[in-house]
Amino acid sequence: MPRNKGGWNLSSMSDGHVPVIAIDGPSGSGKGTLASAIAECLGWHLLDSGALYRIVAAVAIERGIALDEESQLAALAAGLAISFDDHTVIVDGEDLTDLIRTASVTAGSSHVAALKEVRAAILSVQRAMRRPPGLVADGRDMGTVVFPEAALKIFLDASAEVRAQRRYNQLKNKGLSVNLRALLAAIKERDERDIGRAVSPLRAAGDAIIIESTAMTIDEVVAVVYAEVEARKLAEGT
Ligand code: C5P
Repeated sequence: MPRNKGGWNLSSMSDGHVPVIAIDGPSGSGKGTLASAIAECLGWHLLDSGALYRIVAAVAIERGIALDEESQLAALAAGLAISFDDHTVIVDGEDLTDLIRTASVTAGSSHVAALKEVRAAILSVQRAMRRPPGLVADGRDMGTVVFPEAALKIFLDASAEVRAQRRYNQLKNKGLSVNLRALLAAIKERDERDIGRAVSPLRAAGDAIIIESTAMTIDEVVAVVYAEVEARKLAEGT
């Protein structure tokens, strides 16, 4: 989600000069946690692009729009008034923070995300979030389509089993009753849709650094990525 902390120097920097760190990867790879940690370290804005597809799915379900009605969904995506801060997602005045994380919306998000017109409608929203001093963007196509000129591209991967186990632990810690096998099946299903779709499929950009995190802790991943940030001198001036 985009985050405004106030006090940025919004002076003469054009979008093209605002640095972007693109973090892509499959569901549950830890890219959201990684993106938040890096944005926090640098004091940069944060874009959780998956939240945008989740919002489109949630509002469509609420309004009874079928998840394959491409033109209607694109019009819906283009017309939504979305505001984010650290913890809440407000859409057309309604708090959708919890709704967009439910299982039905999670599954629906990868259906609407496969639609070309929906992706086109969301593209400008994502690029508008590129504001000084920098943006950390997480998703599936940040490095390949939305910000192909990003200063640093990371592709964070992990086995489906480990990703399902991490999600299971997260939900368990929240006191929710969950089934590991169902989580694994849902993750594999979403992977297939995200990798197999015709538009902006999930894949690593040719110039991305690929991190296979199956045997790594999140702190280890953050350390590897932060070293790349420093090597590119992206932490300077913040
Ligand atoms: O990252 P998250 O799990 O919140 O994303 C929800 C869904 O949105 C994904 O399963 C994927 O289908 C879609 N998505 C996408 N492109 C992005 C971010 C998310 O297609 N950049």
